Amino acid sequence: MFSSSRYLPQHDSILHRNMHRDYPVITHGEGIYLYDEDGREYIDGCSGAMVANIGHGVQEVAEAMYQQARTVSFTHSSRFASRPMVDLAQRIAGLAPGDLNHVFFVSGGSEATESSAKLARTFFLESEGEDTSRHKIISRLHSYHGGTLGAVAMTGHIPRRRKYEPMLVQFPLVAPAYCYRCTLGLTYPGCELACAKDLERAILEADPGTVAAFIAEPIAGAAAGAVPPPDEYFPEIRRICDRYGVLLIVDEVMTGFGRTGEQFAVDHWDVTPDIMACAKGMGAGYIPLGAVALSDRIADALVSGSGQFTHGFTYSGNPLACRVGLEILDFTEKHDLVRNSREMGRALFAELESLETNHIVGDIRGRGLFAGVELVRDQQTRECFPPSLAAAEVVTQECMARGLVVYPGSGMVGDRRGTKGDQFIVGPPLIVDRNEISEIVARLEAALEAAAARLL
Ligand SMILES: Cc1ncc(COP(=O)(O)O)c(C=O)c1O
Repeated sequence: MFSSSRYLPQHDSILHRNMHRDYPVITHGEGIYLYDEDGREYIDGCSGAMVANIGHGVQEVAEAMYQQARTVSFTHSSRFASRPMVDLAQRIAGLAPGDLNHVFFVSGGSEATESSAKLARTFFLESEGEDTSRHKIISRLHSYHGGTLGAVAMTGHIPRRRKYEPMLVQFPLVAPAYCYRCTLGLTYPGCELACAKDLERAILEADPGTVAAFIAEPIAGAAAGAVPPPDEYFPEIRRICDRYGVLLIVDEVMTGFGRTGEQFAVDHWDVTPDIMACAKGMGAGYIPLGAVALSDRIADALVSGSGQFTHGFTYSGNPLACRVGLEILDFTEKHDLVRNSREMGRALFAELESLETNHIVGDIRGRGLFAGVELVRDQQTRECFPPSLAAAEVVTQECMARGLVVYPGSGMVGDRRGTKGDQFIVGPPLIVDRNEISEIVARLEAALEAAAARLL
């Protein structure tokens, strides 16, 4: 156990996310481990934020980066393509579901989701004409689609919206697929997927002719704690979108590139979206990189229309980031990391079962190396901890004290005001092995015991 009080924020000039918290200074990383200035070791049990998929300190990536930087690291996408950009687009098109054969590059998740929304609008402008009314993006409660204002407008995580509400475009929010605490008060399977049908209700209420797209995370991450939907959910969502001519955007920013044991999480249900937003694991923490994959139908509308996607970012598709992206895909394939994610995911969930005896563990869910644990005050009634106890934060502190980093979240439960509820995500790099899984769970078990002693 240790405290890192040396690293008080007032000792540096950074505007930290939380100016009342200590931030250990990391010097290097290797594999699933990070090390700080005092030589303390941490297991990166959440890959930063489900980012460092291939682990830290991979020399092949550093080498590829060096070689590309020596060659050319930047060209602007308004004038040039580059070989890494062309090759990476082709590789992603090959991996993406169905006919998502076209790629628009960005530098992160918020850029990916915002680009997806603008692309949906562009599709209707191209296919229906300038006077189309299709502009609304429907999203779900307890979702997270990014930190920029457009992305926050599509985000259904109330605590992340609250302060900025007056600045947000108002889009409809529908029920999440969250069986542990169904917001519609129903129970699966008797509910007959009322949460999916809530999308139909919202489309009709909004007027189908004004709705451009529905956006959802295949497995709800940051705002809900790795919550997978029932297996029939996304096929039903696909049918509803098709019925009303609404585009389906899946946000694979957190789940893409092997995190859930399939290349993309929608692959679990064989659903092909119209647009797919990716980032995080794509650059794997080595470089900011993201992409929007889009269907032939959308690309065709642009090609046979104005040809213009009036949108872009300075760093979109820069050669250096794309070269790194290629190296990460090579590493992922060479080490069969999607299969490892599936197999180590099974091992992780098997070991996590031992946590169920801890009184503050309410629900354990997820897929692959993407596991969420919801915290409760009472296992039987599923009562949440009062927000004043900051239960997710207490667990995180106890984990950090044992050299384990997990990804906490709160405010996704209780009511539409999102005032209660605590969870955290365990999502180690996809290179994790069997012994490391056991070590993660052992540290977690001890941390949860200590947290229960503080919270109950
Ligand atoms: C599902 C999802 N979408 C979008 C984002 C935003 O990504 P970024 O922080 O790279 O902008 C995140 C980040 O956590 C995410 O989890």
